[in-house]
Formats: sequence, structure tokens, C-alpha cells
Amino acid sequence: MASAFGRKVIRPVVFRLTAFAKATAVKKPEAAKIVTPAGGINVIEVQNLTKRYGRVTAVDDVSFSVARGEILGFLGPNGAGKTTTMRILTGYMPATEGRAIVAGFDVFNQPVDAKRRTGYLPETPPLYPDMTIREYLTFVAKIKGVPANERRSRVEGVIERTWAKDMADRHCGRLSKGYRQRVGLAQALIHNPDVLILDEPTAGLDPKQIIETRELIKKLAGDHTIILSTHILPEVSQTCQRVVIINKGRVVAVDTPENLTGRLRGSETMYLEIDAGGQDVTSTLESVAGVTKVQVIGRQNGVAAIEIESVHGRDVRRELARAVVHQGWGLLELRPVKMSLEEVFLHLTTEETPELSEAEVPRG
Ligand SMILES: Nc1ncnc2c1ncn2[C@@H]1O[C@H](COP(=O)(O)OP(=O)(O)OP(=O)(O)O)[C@@H](O)[C@H]1O
Ligand SMILES: [Mg+2]
Repeated sequence: MASAFGRKVIRPVVFRLTAFAKATAVKKPEAAKIVTPAGGINVIEVQNLTKRYGRVTAVDDVSFSVARGEILGFLGPNGAGKTTTMRILTGYMPATEGRAIVAGFDVFNQPVDAKRRTGYLPETPPLYPDMTIREYLTFVAKIKGVPANERRSRVEGVIERTWAKDMADRHCGRLSKGYRQRVGLAQALIHNPDVLILDEPTAGLDPKQIIETRELIKKLAGDHTIILSTHILPEVSQTCQRVVIINKGRVVAVDTPENLTGRLRGSETMYLEIDAGGQDVTSTLESVAGVTKVQVIGRQNGVAAIEIESVHGRDVRRELARAVVHQGWGLLELRPVKMSLEEVFLHLTTEETPELSEAEVPRG
């Protein structure tokens, strides 16, 4: 049945190609293996990373890890430190303190090996204006060490995958923003790297392209380990298995989108609609074990809309249903209330000292 009340709103460059050229020269590197508590391998491991620009601390003691095949969303307001962290992970700038392992290699001590296994889509894709898309990607493939006999098929493959075929012979300097972004993604994929670091991959794309790019990223996961940054909150829930929320350079939460939206409140909240023929429902619901607060938020035609809070970690749904039925009332709706990701994000990035729940304590 449709809700009588509707949903209550809850409270509210240039690319350093030369580095890749050098990458092809180094043989038999010693890879560091970081074994996760579950016995899997973390492909990316960031430990106490700090970056200071003079007096500005852009990244402040950031730690997180990404398991093989996972898509990790990097979420934060403007100036939070997302791009800075990604630049450090891709070896484009050194950290002031801390350590980062990418694809088994220390990005500071083994930068060439780490870079060789990384595809990076920077905020501004680095294109050469006088080359066509096809020429540019062929050039990048060569620089990144793709064998000569494979270059052509790789170039055509990424052009196809990033929907750039219709513009393949157009000069990069004459491309629209969306096509520049597609070519940026194509150059990140060209050498089939283990790790993809994508700084706002859907920025500047049209809605159809946004959906297709998200689908592409999801398909790439599994074979590739991916970190993407975004401001688009639904993108995180639709694409990423886990989210790092960063604010003013600090990690404020690391968890799955579901856990972030469901567990932030510290107590469980349920929404109920009860047809009690206009009778008072409060005292009956308050007497249910584990219930800490009952609030009637609306009444219409004898039906009451109620929000109930209960002790954290205790599922009171069965007891609530029993109590309602026992009274002979009609239980029209009973569902957990979750904060939207927008609310979680605002909560974590606008308060001075956000309270970290168990779910939010950074992992790794
Ligand atoms: N080269 C630089 N010199 C000095 N400060 C810098 C430099 N680059 C970035 N910053 C500062 O570091 C902080 C983090 O910037 P960063 O670009 O990493 O943020 P971001 O999360 O990527 O933001 P956005 O969402 O706007 O892309 C900001 O305060 C920014 O002003
Ligand atoms: Mg940025």
C-alpha cells in the first residue's frame, strides 16, 4: 500500500610520459605483499600519509587500503585532499610523511614499478593538441611499453571502450570537454594496468555517458583495482563497494555505502504506519523491550505515522509487529530508516568533531 504520509525527510599537465619510458627499463622488481587480516592481498595500502604545502596541510595522516578487484570511492568536499592523495599514489608528487604501496610496490622507493602498473586519469587529462586521438593513444601506448605488435589492437580497443571512435581522427586540441575526458580514460587503460586511479572520471560527461562510464568502471573491477574520486553521491552507492570520506585532509569515515547510511545514527530508527482507529499507540509501543523513543509524526484517517528509536544493534521489528497485532491494529508499514548518503556526507563534513561510530573507524 502507498504510504499515507509519504517519506519523512530525516534531519535534515603535462603527463610525465618520460617516467613511463623509464619504467620499461627496470627488471625483476621486488614486490611488497600486504596480507589483509582476511588473508587476501591489498593492492593499495596507504599508511599515515601527510602532505604539506608550506603551512597548508592538504593531506593529514591518511590511512586506508584497497583489496584486489575492489572499487573504492574517494569522497570529500572541494579542497578535501582527494587530488593530492591521488597524485601521491600515482607518484606525481612526494608525500611529506607516510608510506603508500601500489600494486605491491612502494611509490616512493619503487616509483617506476608502481607507475608501470597504474593507470591514472588526472583532473585535467593531459592531451597533446596537435595529435589526433588515435595518434595520441598510439604514442602513449609506445611510451607505456605496449609491445609494437599489440599497439594497434590496444588503441582500437580503448577507443571502442571509451566511445571515442567517432572522433578518433580529430585533433585533441579541438575536442569537447566530454571527449577529452573519454580520451583521458582511454590513456589510463591503454597498458591494461592492475590499478586505476581515476580523479572524477565522470566530470564533464553527458548523462548517457555518465551511466556508460559507471558501467565500464564496474566491468573493469575484478581484473583491476580502482580508486575513483567524485562529488556525485549516487555514483558512490551505484559504483563503489567501499567509501573513504575525507574532509580537510583527514579521513572521517571508511565503510560500505550501506553501513554508512544505516549505522551512523548510533541508534536504530524504525518508521511505522499503524491503523489504530485513532487510538493512542504511544504507550503500547513504548512498552516494547529495547524501544527508547516513540514519536508520532503524523495522523490521517485513524492511521498514525510513527518513528521509533531503539537500542543500537537491537532489532525490535518482531516485537513491534507482535505488539501491534496483539492490540488488533493494522500494521501498514514497518521499515528501518536510513540516512541518505547526502545526509551522512553533510554530517561528517560539516561538523567540527564528528563522532565516529564503530562502522566509521578507518580500516588498515
Ligand atoms: N600546489 C599546491 N600548492 C599549495 N596548496 C595546494 C596545492 N595543491 C592543492 N593545494 C591545497 O591542498 C588542499 C587540497 O587540495 P586538493 O586539490 O587535493 O583537493 P580536492 O579534494 O581534490 O578538491 P576538489 O574537489 O576541488 O578537486 C586545498 O586546500 C588546496 O588549496
Ligand atoms: Mg580534486
